[in-house]
Amino acid sequence: MKRMLSGIKPTGQLTLGNYIGALRNFVNYQDDYEMIVFIANLHCITEYQDPADLRKNLTDAVALYLACGLDPDKATIFLQTDVHAHAELGYILACNTYLGELNRMTQFKDKSAKGEKNMTAGLYTYPCLMAADILLYNANYVPVGEDQKQHVELTRDIAQRFNNRYGETFVVPEPLIAKVGARIMSLSDPSKKMSKSDEANKGCIYLLDDPKTARKKIMSAVTDSFADVKLDKENQPGLYNLIEIASALSGRSMEEIADEFAGQGYGKLKGYVADVVCSELEKIQSRYNEIIESRQIEKILSEGSAKAAAIADETLARVKNKIGLEIKY
Ligand code: TYM
Repeated sequence: MKRMLSGIKPTGQLTLGNYIGALRNFVNYQDDYEMIVFIANLHCITEYQDPADLRKNLTDAVALYLACGLDPDKATIFLQTDVHAHAELGYILACNTYLGELNRMTQFKDKSAKGEKNMTAGLYTYPCLMAADILLYNANYVPVGEDQKQHVELTRDIAQRFNNRYGETFVVPEPLIAKVGARIMSLSDPSKKMSKSDEANKGCIYLLDDPKTARKKIMSAVTDSFADVKLDKENQPGLYNLIEIASALSGRSMEEIADEFAGQGYGKLKGYVADVVCSELEKIQSRYNEIIESRQIEKILSEGSAKAAAIADETLARVKNKIGLEIKY
């Protein structure tokens, strides 16, 4: 069975974008692949997080993984800091990554271009830690949304460089990006990605949003003044995004949805999208409540990290040996 690995960084509450672009795919793949999914808590602290908020977000993220359908009997689920090899390999890979490569990472480039001050060294070297997350597990595939593709490509470059320098060590992974829903856009600004850090909070649906709030956000989503339901990503990006959300969640094709609402005005379409989204949120939230009450998270994480550490420690030992980092007596 081929191995697949992915993670989410809960710097806030998980979003509908995380669900459509990543999480629900993990769930779909868990029957056919050996699935390893972790909570990227070290990645969260590249920017200051209030400790109490962070703790809550991490717990909620695990509960949501389970609520969305990840099954701990099929998938290995763990917290990144419970497996120490991540930080150690992250440092080693930083020593095998060039500044030029990190300068080209769009996340860092965009923040510097915006003149953001007080960026941390952790934010800059973050892609090396992400490469370690993946390479520790000899993962063949990495299911991610469109925005993470560049990081997986850098991981491939680092793996290939290391293999050339030190001999075959790492499996070179491939990004796996879904055809529908790989980049869900903000409801209030369809030129931007839907993101946890949406300040106005109107463009982003959180998985724990009360369905009434989610419906309101969808009904007031920014569209256009053509008053004509069509699939035109370039000229009607807001509408396209809504149809994409509904298509991803309902399994219907985007064309079929657009045809159904052609000539009916945007209100009807928005109402349909809201129905689809709210019914998904209700299902997830009722399972989330059961999971929080059942207090099973700790046990799942401890079993998951034991399984993960067994794989990761072996890879790290091999890496140290190749580099010549240990002393043999
Ligand atoms: P993060 O936490 O920003 O996002 C988690 C996953 O959700 C996807 N995603 C989206 N997909 C579609 N539309 C959106 N609006 C949207 N927003 C987010 C992301 O593409 C991602 O797949 N660096 C990673 C976490 C990470 C990781 C890893 C992932 C750390 N180590 C190793 C894979 C493998 C991140 O910040 O994702």
